[in-house]
Amino acid sequence: MDGLRKACILGTGSYIPERVVTNNDLSRILDTSDEWIRTRTGIRERHLAAENESASDMAVKAAERALKMSGIPKHRIGFIILATGTPDYPIPNTSSLVQDKLGLPHAGAVDISAGCAGFIHGLVMAKGLVSSGLFDYGLVISSEMLSKHLDWKDRTTCILFGDGAGAAVVGPDQGKFEICSSDMGTDGSCWDCIHIPAGGTVEPVSEEAIRKDKIYLKMNGRKVFQNSVRRMIDTAAAVMAKEEITADEVGLFLFHQANIRIIQCVAKKMGIPWGKIPIELDRLGNTGPASVAIALDLAVRDYRIPEDGYILLDGFGAGFIWSSVLLRIEHTEKE
Ligand code: UT7
Repeated sequence: MDGLRKACILGTGSYIPERVVTNNDLSRILDTSDEWIRTRTGIRERHLAAENESASDMAVKAAERALKMSGIPKHRIGFIILATGTPDYPIPNTSSLVQDKLGLPHAGAVDISAGCAGFIHGLVMAKGLVSSGLFDYGLVISSEMLSKHLDWKDRTTCILFGDGAGAAVVGPDQGKFEICSSDMGTDGSCWDCIHIPAGGTVEPVSEEAIRKDKIYLKMNGRKVFQNSVRRMIDTAAAVMAKEEITADEVGLFLFHQANIRIIQCVAKKMGIPWGKIPIELDRLGNTGPASVAIALDLAVRDYRIPEDGYILLDGFGAGFIWSSVLLRIEHTEKE
């Protein structure tokens, strides 16, 4: 990266909606139990958005917290990259609504859809924009509200997810974390392992699509599980090899929070001590691409960042898409 500037995370933020739905609450409307959900997934409860809340509302709240921590004034933000699979509308992009609600006068705004790897993909893109000198400061946000796309009669999917948003301010100054090596991958042949059949150009929403529940998320859980473990291990290994470090130099592993058993398999195969892996999914469920962003912000605010070394962010999801990035710890004081 000679000749390029550093790109650092200067502040983080997150937002979790207020309403808590426990496994016992779900067992009252579905043929499921707290015991099944906890043992198969590690999830105890999740937070779901209010009826009148949107993905952009959650994104704005997370971004405001990240901006406050960074100290960067709004007029200096040059871009917003918003990772979401649950936009406010099919058109326009949700990041335009975020730009307006935040009042960022000079920000270009773009949405990216990269499954549960979206926030990490966004950080990689932001690093390119900042390191090259094209832009100074930008916001990478992920906001996911899958609760409005779930079939609440389908016990195999609806028990898994929660709503939430996370954000980071990226810039060229000395910051909390320098964005270092990254890795991104795709296997589009598995596109239908996590998908919503209707609502796009292949099958627009119709009465028949609604009647056949095609407007809701469908998932091949076992295939997703197996691929998650393999891809999350491979992408972590790839990024550490690029940076020429070993897992011992990584103080925190922020894995996408989908299922505690996936994270346990990855940790076991990589030989990572459990104490280096923050777990938020027990109380938040799977918040999609926001999960890694939220875990990073909570680790910062709860003083769980080591004094030096690296943090590894690792995500996998619909597509299939996966990515990882290493953050070098520069500054750990709480704001
Ligand atoms: O962000 C990325 C997206 N998603 C993921 O990463 C999810 C990855 N996959 C998984 O986490 C797991 O595959 C699940 C948690 C979705 C499912 O766990 P599993 O151990 O793979 O269960 P299964 O699908 O093999 O189902 C086992 C049994 C089935 O019953 P039968 O056929 O054995 O009689 C299911 O019908 O469990 C049943 N089942 C349930 N029972 C009670 C499925 N969901 C439930 C439920 N409550 N909620």
